[in-house]
Amino acid sequence: MSYYLSSKLPPYVFEQINRLKADARSRGIDIVDLGMGNPDLPTPEPIVEKLIEAVRNPRNHRYSVSRGIAGLRQALVERYERMWGVKLDPDREVVATIGAKEGISHLVMTLLAPNDRALVPEPCYPIHAFSVVIAGGRLERVPWTTADELLEKLRAAVKVDPPRLVLLSFPHNPTGVCVDKVFFEEMVGLALEHSFSIIHDFAYADLAFENPRPPSILQVERSREVAVEIYSLSKSYSMAGWRVGFCVGNPEMVGALARVKSYMDYGIFQPIQIAATVALRKCEGHVELIREEYRRRRDVLVKLLNEAGWQVERPAGSMFLWAAIPERFKPLGSLEFAKVLLERAQVAVSPGIGFGESGDGYVRFALVENEERIRQAARGIKSFLKASN
Ligand SMILES: Cc1ncc(COP(=O)(O)O)c(C=O)c1O
Repeated sequence: MSYYLSSKLPPYVFEQINRLKADARSRGIDIVDLGMGNPDLPTPEPIVEKLIEAVRNPRNHRYSVSRGIAGLRQALVERYERMWGVKLDPDREVVATIGAKEGISHLVMTLLAPNDRALVPEPCYPIHAFSVVIAGGRLERVPWTTADELLEKLRAAVKVDPPRLVLLSFPHNPTGVCVDKVFFEEMVGLALEHSFSIIHDFAYADLAFENPRPPSILQVERSREVAVEIYSLSKSYSMAGWRVGFCVGNPEMVGALARVKSYMDYGIFQPIQIAATVALRKCEGHVELIREEYRRRRDVLVKLLNEAGWQVERPAGSMFLWAAIPERFKPLGSLEFAKVLLERAQVAVSPGIGFGESGDGYVRFALVENEERIRQAARGIKSFLKASN
């Protein structure tokens, strides 16, 4: 049977690798899983303690509020001011979301009318592109490799036919590319000139290695006229399963999302919201420890892959390594190559095609196993490359 919306969404490519991984593990094979970007580090203790305390209070068991409790929104406002010098109005410019993914998908659905054109850089996190498909918009993918090239292409594309929406995200999944504030100044300038909106997904706000404080688009003058930013606790605080995110910035866009969400959900379980305020207010040191752990893993993986003869570059941010497939395996394509790595090196990675067609020459390593396991993965890859020479 075919249903209207699901038929427009291809099966997740990553599922195929997951199935093969589960199959190998059921046969007793030890697979190092660097596939999905699912953080393995534990949530910091003060957050867990607060959750336990809050869950014991029956008053917190009722429906919460879909836009987020006042204390949570205020805690986010304080962190934005501390980290980025951005002042937000907690009532008009902040709405809590059930993770960034929920926020982005409902926001795009809220903003786009049928056939409205949306520009999405490719490769990208899949929901950036598919939120447009779900909303019935007109998706236009913009393939890119460097930030300068992307800016050039977006500049040309918005001049020809102004879109309704542009989706951006830096530090970037899967490539690890970071941008400076000038990039956002250019984009905000274009949005003001050509009357389009910008969603900036800032899920890796706290995971940049060269400049530990990558810019928020909201630091740009007049950005609030055209842009919102999506922030998430999933990676910064290792809280992926808790489902806490935010949409902040342009009050009309924030208000529109809050309206739609008020029909769709009753908010995040209140003890989680209470514990999330502790994260935002009291866990800055933990964020740094998490970032440093990803940095160490990145450095180990990059060094060992290069030593194994697979030339890769060091990502400036995110928790991923975007690796061009070695020349002799390129004809396989990324899905087949990922299968080969799984079978012959016992390492699971994400095939680049899952991030858009132009990603097919790459695979993505997620830094979600410890250093020892990453060394094990690199050894497996080294022997495989040697054997296949
Ligand atoms: C760019 C990007 N945005 C959003 C998310 C999802 O964030 P959340 O867990 O807050 O839904 C991810 C997760 O991998 C991501 O890579």
